[in-house]
Formats: sequence, C-alpha cells, structure tokens
Amino acid sequence: MKRNLRKTLVLSGDNVNTIVDRFGLNNLMDRLIDELNQAIKVFDIDTTKIPIRSGFNYDNDNPGLVEWMPLYKKDEEVVIKVVGYHPKNPFKHSLPTILSTISSYDTATGHLKGLVDGVLLTALRTGATSAVASKYLAQPDSSVLGLIGCGAQSITQLHALSRVFDLKKVLIYDVDSKATASFRDRSEMLDLSIEIIETSLEQIMERSDIVCTATSIDVGQGPLFNNLELKPNIHINAVGSDFPGKTELPLNLLKNSIVVPDFLKQAVVEGECQQLVANDIGPDLIDLIQNQKNYELAKDSTTVFDSTGWALEDQVVMDLFLELAQKFGIGFELDIENTSADAKNPYHFFLKNIEV
Ligand SMILES: NC(=O)c1ccc[n+]([C@@H]2O[C@H](COP(=O)([O-])OP(=O)(O)OC[C@H]3O[C@@H](n4cnc5c(N)ncnc54)[C@H](O)[C@@H]3O)[C@@H](O)[C@H]2O)c1
Repeated sequence: MKRNLRKTLVLSGDNVNTIVDRFGLNNLMDRLIDELNQAIKVFDIDTTKIPIRSGFNYDNDNPGLVEWMPLYKKDEEVVIKVVGYHPKNPFKHSLPTILSTISSYDTATGHLKGLVDGVLLTALRTGATSAVASKYLAQPDSSVLGLIGCGAQSITQLHALSRVFDLKKVLIYDVDSKATASFRDRSEMLDLSIEIIETSLEQIMERSDIVCTATSIDVGQGPLFNNLELKPNIHINAVGSDFPGKTELPLNLLKNSIVVPDFLKQAVVEGECQQLVANDIGPDLIDLIQNQKNYELAKDSTTVFDSTGWALEDQVVMDLFLELAQKFGIGFELDIENTSADAKNPYHFFLKNIEV
C-alpha cells in the first residue's frame, strides 16, 4: 500500500473557516451554487446511489436525533454525513442546533480519504440549494425575501438568495424575539444594502416574492400558519420539514402549489410531501432542472421547494472544500487507520525488525 493511501485529510471547523476566508465568502457561495446546479444537471441514477437517510431519534430532556446520510458515487467515493439535530442546543449548551461531520471513503480500498466539519458546510449547502431551486421556480425579478425562523440556516438562506436575486428587503419573523433582534448583527458580514424589517407572518406571506421557512418547529406542531393571503406567484423554500411529523406549511397551500421535492423518496417520509398524495407532488429537483423546458409555467404559480436535505448536496460541498484545502495547503493529514507493511498481521507492532 502506498503511503498516500494511508492518509486522511482532516478539515476542522477552524480549517473550514480559513478556507472560506481565503477563497472569499461570496466566491465560495457562487461556486457552490454553480456546482450544485451542475451536479443536479448531470445527476445519473446509474452512477450515483442515494438511499434515504436513517438514524436514531430519542425523546429525553434533550430531545433530538443523530442520522447518517450516505451516497455512493460509482468507482469514486462513498460520502457519509453524520448529523445531529438538537434544537435545545443553543439555549442549553451554546451549541448550534445542527452539529455534523462529513466523511469520504475511497471505493477502491475503503480508506477514509477525508473528514470535514459539517456544521458550516451544511448551512452553506442548504442555502445554496434553496438558491438553485429558486432560480428555476421564483420570479427572476424577486426583490423581497421573507425569512420565517431566524436561526443558523436563515443566514445562509439570505446569503445564497442574495447572490441570485437583487434583493431590496428582507422581512423576518421568529417566535424567539432574541433571534430576530440579533439577525441584523449576524447578517452584517454579508455587507448587503438590504432593508431588514421585523414583521408578522401575515405581512411576510403577503409581501414576499420568496420565503424561506427554516424553523425548529416540533413534531406535530405544524403548520406555522393557516389561511394567510399569499403574494401571487410566491416561491417558498420549505427547509425545516425534515422529519416524520415535522412540517411547516399548511395542506391547502401545498395543494394549490407546484411542490418540488429535493429527493422524492425521502420527502414523502420526512418533508412537506408527507402531507400529500402522489398526484399532488410536482417534479423533483432533478427532473425540474434536467427537463426545465417542461416546467417553464412553474414561475407563474405558487411554488414550494420541499428541502429535506440530500446527500448529493453534502458530496458537492465536501468535494469543493477538499479541493480548496489542497489548493491552499490547509488541513492536517492523519494516519488514522491501523495499517502496516504486513497487511495480514494486525499484531505487526509486536514484531521487531519489521518496518512500519
Ligand atoms: N433541509 C435541509 O437541508 C436542512 C438543513 C439544515 C437544517 N434544516 C432544518 O432547518 C431548521 C432550522 O435549522 P437551524 O440550524 O436554523 O436551527 P436554529 O435552532 O438555529 O433556528 C431555528 C429557529 O426557528 C425558530 N422557531 C421555532 N419554531 C418556530 C415557529 N413556530 N415560528 C417561527 N420560528 C420558529 C427558533 O426560535 C429558532 O430561532 C431545522 O428544523 C433543521 O432541522 C434543514
């Protein structure tokens, strides 16, 4: 086995931050939006296999779940994101609600090639995917963005959408007044000349061209609202519905919209699509992008992107960070796997005179 087949490139949270800093936040988001768009355009079910995720959900005084999201790219890599969702984290432990790591395995050997922080990468790719979906589903002159839920994901939703649309106003709402109060400061580094207005759910749905719902609403507590007036041709990125029973949007809104799931098989179990029957569900994101001519009319309807979170997004963002890490010489290499000159002797380290 060659030496380089033993090394695992590790990118810590700090390493990831340095990469973003060196490459530039806007460059990074633009590149990610392009790469995701391209990955979906060329997505081929024969070469990329994505099973629906699985995990453990527990109910105790800190309710939450840990899930694994796998992807197999034929003759290349297996990528697995392990992600924890613990909505009490920010209050109880001063930690993000979403904690995760993403790993990449070489399909020639099984070797762990890379291990990367998934906290920032998840937020980046979730924002970028909403931007990709909105490009195909929202009015091109959209200028008012509504954000329902002003937590970690809301920042990258704003960032990504501001790279695709000429946003003039952001209308924000959260049940936690501290989240809305701190939103301006948290989004300051985006350096956007956009008016930020704290307002009601009614105003958001009536005045926004694009809305992103990214709340930590509890299972069984949805929808976020009922029977509100909608701006004509509004597009909604429903980001927070990602677990059985956890939904954000009302059924009548979904039934009167073109609903585009990121990953149909998963969305019918965990997304807004769990509320719908097959006939009520529109094309998935792959179909929409690969056959866009068939769906031109979508822009003249109410549309919903049912974003449950998809392993393809994790593969794209991880590969981009591994590439940039190599370009900038950032990260550290570990010999984490126990290998030796004698592949058939796991006790090799007891033997003298064998070079390890
Ligand atoms: N689709 C995806 O790919 C994807 C990726 C990451 C996170 N998520 C989901 O997005 C959601 C937000 O994640 P986050 O990291 O921003 O969490 P967060 O805890 O940082 O923020 C969630 C915010 O939602 C607010 N909220 C809760 N209930 C609300 C309600 N009824 N109305 C308005 N606001 C409400 C909370 O006060 C909080 O500020 C979670 O449900 C998470 O599971 C989805």
